[in-house]
Amino acid sequence: PELGKLEVLNNTLIGVNSEGYIDFIQSDFNEDDDDPIYFFRNTYKNSGSWKHFQFYDLRDTFQFVVPGFVDTHIHASQYPNVGVGLNIQLLDWLTKITFPSENALGENMSMTHQVYSKIIKKTLSCGTTCASYFTTIDQPSTTLFANLLLQYGQRGFVGKVCMDHNPVYPDYEEDIDSCMDGMKTLIDDLERLNPSDEILVKPIVTPRFALSCTDKLLSDLGKLSKERNLNIQTHISENVKEVEQVKQQFPNDKNYALVYDRHQLLTEKTILAHGVYLEQEEIDLIKQRKCSLSHCPASNTFISSGEAPIKKYLYEDDINVSLGTDVSGGFEQSILGVLKQSILVSHHLSMKFEPKDDDKKENVKLSVADGLYMATLGGAKAVGYGQMLGSFAVGKKFDAQLIDLDRGNIDMFSWQHTLPWKDLIAKWVFSGDDRNCIKVWCNGRLVILKN
Ligand code: GUN
Ligand code: FE
Repeated sequence: PELGKLEVLNNTLIGVNSEGYIDFIQSDFNEDDDDPIYFFRNTYKNSGSWKHFQFYDLRDTFQFVVPGFVDTHIHASQYPNVGVGLNIQLLDWLTKITFPSENALGENMSMTHQVYSKIIKKTLSCGTTCASYFTTIDQPSTTLFANLLLQYGQRGFVGKVCMDHNPVYPDYEEDIDSCMDGMKTLIDDLERLNPSDEILVKPIVTPRFALSCTDKLLSDLGKLSKERNLNIQTHISENVKEVEQVKQQFPNDKNYALVYDRHQLLTEKTILAHGVYLEQEEIDLIKQRKCSLSHCPASNTFISSGEAPIKKYLYEDDINVSLGTDVSGGFEQSILGVLKQSILVSHHLSMKFEPKDDDKKENVKLSVADGLYMATLGGAKAVGYGQMLGSFAVGKKFDAQLIDLDRGNIDMFSWQHTLPWKDLIAKWVFSGDDRNCIKVWCNGRLVILKN
């Protein structure tokens, strides 16, 4: 429920109403004496809204519920390329693999339908109940993507990729007018798509990154976000060569963050992916503008971009940090997997210190609690839903996953019922995967049910 704090509610009854809100949380039933069902019937028997209900009993199992994961950086269009491109660094990876495949996909509705359906189903089944997506520059298939989110029941931010400057692969760019027209159509489409009483899909302003945009496009997108009160997502400072090229392309800006800031793109509704090589001045600006970072350790390792100093960002710079799979720079569709990667990368950072600086190691190592925070509430805050999602509290929406420790990759033993919660959760984080996620609810609705 807050940075660095892992809270486990034992013997707890959570009531979720038909609108998907958490109505009550009754904790600390005495395992032997109190019967939660009896309590429930007694307390709510006169309440009309609780006439019909479904009850899940997790007692005497290795099962528990966790807030749904928020993936704050994922390219739906790149799903077919997962696992491809090891040893190619960012700029070549974009030119040789990513731009051609995004370009081919965007124009082919049958392919996009397959790819977009599969990535939504896959991330949902990994416990991701909300995600901030990049699609391609193509607007009609981006609207199709939003339809699919609603169909499968995942909350999402839908980012049509905006890029008007792509000298390394000129087939894949559009002029400013068609980009801005596409954005307006997308915004109108999504307004019509949401159910009348709920907003489940939202457009998000998505300049790909500084290198693929002109000043004019960045400026128009900053204005659009301001006028329509829209979230923003982009990449920042992922790779050393990228940072050098940004300095060449924008010689008047002292650093990468200032390119975005000059066009009003750094706001409290902005998600900046990667942030591996940020200068302190940029970090201070990001903090001042209340932007969030999306940490993508699987991607940063796979295409060897670098190791972001996340513990420092969280604890010294006081920046909100969330997690992103960054499919397909990242090879993980699962935020649980990315959480694990974030801890491992932080351990690699810590191993760079000499033995005499052992105390400094702890300053860079992320804990399981840090990782779970970034995967849930940190992500919810990044997309502007900190009050609505990311933890269990009365009045929040029930976006949740049911975890069964005793399956898939993990074998539990009967005597391990007495293991401390901290150890059970660590087992899940380090040894678990999507097979342990057996039910998923989004907006209070059961959207994934596995046998
Ligand atoms: N920078 C600009 N575009 C991309 C992308 O598609 N993936 C990653 N990882 N970085 C980028
Ligand atoms: Fe990315």
